[in-house]
Amino acid sequence: MPQLPEKIHELTVGQLSARSGAAVSALHFYESKGLISSRRTSGNQRRYTRDTLRRVAFVRAAQRVGIPLATIREALAELPEERTPTRADWARLSEAWRSELDDRINQLNRLRDHLTDCIGCGCLSLATCVLSNPDDAFGERGAGSRLMREDGGARAQP
Ligand code: FES
Repeated sequence: MPQLPEKIHELTVGQLSARSGAAVSALHFYESKGLISSRRTSGNQRRYTRDTLRRVAFVRAAQRVGIPLATIREALAELPEERTPTRADWARLSEAWRSELDDRINQLNRLRDHLTDCIGCGCLSLATCVLSNPDDAFGERGAGSRLMREDGGARAQP
C-alpha cells in the first residue's frame, strides 16, 4: 500500500483509491450517495481531505458485514459536523448493528435449512414451499389468493 507523505492534506481520486483499496468507480459511487465528499479544483478535478481515507474504511467495513448503504449514510449523517467516524463511533455503531446482523444470520440459517426440502422439488408452491412463502406470510392475510387485488385486477407477484 503506497504511503502518503505527511504534508499531503488532500488526495486525488487515484491516491484515495490506491491508499484505501476501493476502486475509483466505487469512490465515485460513494460520493454520489453522499458517503464521502470532495472539493473541485479549478481544473474540475476532485480533491479529498485526508480523513476521507478513514470514512472509506468505515464504509467498506460496514458493507463487508452487509449493512446497507442507506443505513451507513444515516449513521455518518448523525455524526456532528460531518465528522469522520472515530474509534468510539465505530464501536458504538457496530454494537448497534450486531443484533440486526444476528437477526439476518438467523433468518438465513432458517432459509438454508428449508432449502434442503426444496432440492430436487421445484414446485415453488405458495401453499407448501417455505421458500416461496416464508413464514406463511400470505396465509396470515387470510384464505385465498393474495396475488389478486381486491377489485379483481391482477397484481404483480411479490
Ligand atoms: S420448491 Fe417445492 S417445497 Fe420448495
